[in-house]
Amino acid sequence: AKRKTNRHLQKMYEKGTPITMVTCYDFTFARLVEKSDIDTILIGDSLGNVIQGQDTTLPVTVDDIIYHTRAVARGNQSAHLLADMPFGSYQANDDEGMRNAARLLKEGGAQAVKLEGGAAIAPLVKRMVTAGIPVCGHLGLTPQSVNQFGGFRVQGRGEDAGEQLIADALALEEAGAYMIVFEMVPKDLAKRVTEALSIPTIGIGAGNATSGQVLVLQDLLGMNQDFCPKFVKRFANLEDSVVKALDAFGEEVRDRSFPTDAHSFD
Ligand code: KIV
Ligand code: NA
Repeated sequence: AKRKTNRHLQKMYEKGTPITMVTCYDFTFARLVEKSDIDTILIGDSLGNVIQGQDTTLPVTVDDIIYHTRAVARGNQSAHLLADMPFGSYQANDDEGMRNAARLLKEGGAQAVKLEGGAAIAPLVKRMVTAGIPVCGHLGLTPQSVNQFGGFRVQGRGEDAGEQLIADALALEEAGAYMIVFEMVPKDLAKRVTEALSIPTIGIGAGNATSGQVLVLQDLLGMNQDFCPKFVKRFANLEDSVVKALDAFGEEVRDRSFPTDAHSFD
């Protein structure tokens, strides 16, 4: 099957079909996403938290994103592949941003890149789009700005903040972004901004009026019972399944009931 493209997603949006997105960072899960009917994979800088065990996404490098994007691309042939531009990869200047975005496509195999920020990065977004690099925006709680926000808190509350978010979204659309992620914003604001745009919006903690939804794969699979922000719903409890399987293996090794002859060679 051919990969879904930005145009596929735009057509889904125009038909009113909700767009589904999950993060994915490795071959094994990318295969499973392939077997599902998820539209889009985000190789998110959340891999800093989920894969590397960091407290924030800030330490993630362009090389990290490329490494994981390559692994995902080998396991999945049909989802749209969107890769995050990590912290520091586009803030110093636009030339560096251009080179790093191109690397995510050339070396990683991503089809598009995602950048955190609004009107301030619109010129860079425009340059990328002009160069043939589709760009997804990311507004609201942008985790790369956690130090500026002073924590992981809902963004866009209050009249001024709401207007600012809408202005940022319109600036990104005007610059040529094909989609925008909204993270942890009040649901009424996410609805307003979705109505103001003519490109799809993807929500995470943004209510159900956005054009689609994204969750971190390990969160929706229930792989970490110690981490449960309000916007996460666990659609499975893999933490329990995995720990049970490990304990079953351990027990059978200790009582020598594994391996049997069925798992042994003559
Ligand atoms: O890195 C990530 O997982 C993300 C999503 C939460 C949108 O940016
Ligand atoms: Na991210």
